[in-house]
Amino acid sequence: MIRVPVREEADVSVARTLARDLALREGFPAGRAAAVATAVSELAWNIVVHAGDGEVVLAAVIERGRRAVVAVARDGHPGIADLEAAMRDGHSTRGTLGLGLSSARRLMDEFAIESEPGKGTTVTMKKWGDDPDP
Ligand SMILES: Nc1ncnc2c1ncn2[C@@H]1O[C@H](COP(=O)(O)OP(=O)(O)O)[C@@H](O)[C@H]1O
Ligand SMILES: [Mg+2]
Repeated sequence: MIRVPVREEADVSVARTLARDLALREGFPAGRAAAVATAVSELAWNIVVHAGDGEVVLAAVIERGRRAVVAVARDGHPGIADLEAAMRDGHSTRGTLGLGLSSARRLMDEFAIESEPGKGTTVTMKKWGDDPDP
């Protein structure tokens, strides 16, 4: 398990690189590893911009013989009041593109977000290293 404290821009690139390297070590093809890296980078960036500080945790798992990377991004404040709006393409409370959460959800195979105003936000994502057997 890899834990990356996130507070500033440099931490975002550390999280991004570690996510990609972990996926590549697990045998992910380059495109899948890039998808994980991009999704992790969006969430880490959100921590810097919207929360101020938090962490990204990365882990490789094997389930029924298949490899996956799990990434968790969490922070302790301020939380998201309207989760449904936050997940929508183009929604931003900061005047930026508003594509981070929606893109991360599309790039990963599993995506779950929990947030409570005042208590922070936790996003848990998973991506498999290969296609399932038919
Ligand atoms: N970790 C977070 N803490 C608080 N608010 C967040 C967090 N991540 C996302 N948000 C909220 O969700 C909105 C959408 O996020 P996102 O899709 O990444 O777009 P953007 O970052 O460009 O605003 C943000 O504008 C912000 O209001
Ligand atoms: Mg964002």
